Amino acid sequence: MYKTLIYEKKDTIGVLTINRPDKLNALSNELMGELSRFLDDAENDGDLRVLVITGAGEKAFVAGADIQELVDRDVLLGRKVSRQRQEIFSRIENLPVPAIAAVNGFALGGGLELALACSIRICSEQAQFGAPEVKLGIIPGDGGTQRLPRLVGLGRAMEMILTGDFIDAQEAYRIGLVNQVISQDELMEKAMGLAQKIAKRPPLAVRYAKEAVNRSQGGDSTSGYALESYLHALTCSTEDKKEGVQAFLEKRKGTFKGK
Ligand code: COA
Repeated sequence: MYKTLIYEKKDTIGVLTINRPDKLNALSNELMGELSRFLDDAENDGDLRVLVITGAGEKAFVAGADIQELVDRDVLLGRKVSRQRQEIFSRIENLPVPAIAAVNGFALGGGLELALACSIRICSEQAQFGAPEVKLGIIPGDGGTQRLPRLVGLGRAMEMILTGDFIDAQEAYRIGLVNQVISQDELMEKAMGLAQKIAKRPPLAVRYAKEAVNRSQGGDSTSGYALESYLHALTCSTEDKKEGVQAFLEKRKGTFKGK
């Protein structure tokens, strides 16, 4: 049914696995198209109570946007792709059922942003989190500048987004980015246990509680997301973005000119 996703339903719990392990589950355009199609079904699945999202393989949850595809992301495409991905992640945030991110490795860039769109995040001991976009000469474009500060506070979000440094599982737990750190072997079992607990609660209470809690994070997020998209698009037009992306693909350090 999908090339880049695996979906299994265990009673009322859906398990969605992002499945491009050879590319550390990077978010290609094809994958995002499939994710959108998956959400069309999930939004209309009246039996679904909780969705668990994880990554295929031992190494990564999702290592961000597919950097190969960033080569052609110019200013117009930057704006379009950012808006599309923001919308897809907002659909996850606003699903009628909670989504739990079971972060089994790297959650970087769009992978961090995907986890942030979930209602709850738990991770394995080997998970690492980061917003490395700045190192590629761009800024996050899938909602990260809006959701990360809300979850971990302005200062910590700034540090992650401005340095692009990764943090480990324990640090992620300390700053409230994840609710639990679990051994890799037990991660899915724990995620399913949490999902089952929520699935047993009255569905409408869960649905509206989730909606109410989401609303508490309101503020003027509409213009925040719009600004993020414009600025992401702007960075897609710079020489530094071209250099940052090429440097990654050529496995070398980038040299940036501020142009
Ligand atoms: N897009 C496309 N391909 C990616 C990718 C991404 N975001 N992240 C990893 N890959 C690919 C690598 O190019 C490599 O492919 P290859 O085997 O064909 O050369 C493969 O996945 C394995 O990654 P590799 O870099 O060899 O693993 P590593 O253990 O040395 O490093 C990371 C792991 C996560 C630190 C490193 O892959 C990385 O920095 N990825 C990019 C993260 C990023 O900047 N994401 C934000 C994008 S906006």
